[in-house]
Amino acid sequence: EHFFFRGDALKGKKVLITAGPTQELIDPVRFISNHSSGKMGYALAEAFYMHGADVHVVTGPVNLPHSNNGIRFSKVVSANEMYNAAVDAFKDADIAVMSAAVADYTPAEVAEEKIKKNDGELVIRLLKTKDILKSLGQLKKPGQLLVGFALETNNERENALQKLNSKNADLIVLNSLRDTNAGFGYDTNNVTVFDKEGNVFESGLVSKQQVAEDIVNIIIKKLYDKA
Ligand code: CTP
Ligand code: CA
Repeated sequence: EHFFFRGDALKGKKVLITAGPTQELIDPVRFISNHSSGKMGYALAEAFYMHGADVHVVTGPVNLPHSNNGIRFSKVVSANEMYNAAVDAFKDADIAVMSAAVADYTPAEVAEEKIKKNDGELVIRLLKTKDILKSLGQLKKPGQLLVGFALETNNERENALQKLNSKNADLIVLNSLRDTNAGFGYDTNNVTVFDKEGNVFESGLVSKQQVAEDIVNIIIKKLYDKA
């Protein structure tokens, strides 16, 4: 048998995590979404909990169990719903980690009835969604720590560092889709974490649980260094 004891390094700290994909309705039976499984965000929630934090996950639709009764889950569907829930929860959060794969665009209008096919093309006009990470970066107060993810297929480091700065995050976790077995849907991941001071951490190809543990430890170290 294995026993796990909850640590207290993050006792009293409120952590907000966004996780999973969002779904943007086209009509009553169709939506636009992406391949996010939510595994990384849920692993982070578990890791923060195991270090004593008070964890609130704002989650898009995923097929994962809510394994832990000590973790609060708020279910949302669309990017706009996720934005509202995250902005609200950020008010009293000490740490926020944006691991959700939020849709960048949403249909300009949702058809009330199922769209019927016809002989021509179908054009769906898409509007940009609000950037949750960027918005929290603008709302951020001293003492709040904000962590973003970056999903890249090219110019990875440059794009990740650009996101770190433009969204006013304190840390950015680069998810490279180049590695086989890493990222969307897989149980393993390979990330590079950048902070504003120029420190770089590489996880190597490990389980998402291990990546989560590494990220939480980087955050704990940051909090203790500041104190
Ligand atoms: N993000 C967000 N709200 C959005 C879009 C993205 O909070 N509407 C967050 C993601 O959760 C992630 C970070 O921003 O933490 C980067 O997401 P990513 O999709 O990699 O970057 P984008 O800024 O959306 O740019 P692009 O997709 O064009 O690379
Ligand atoms: Ca995006």
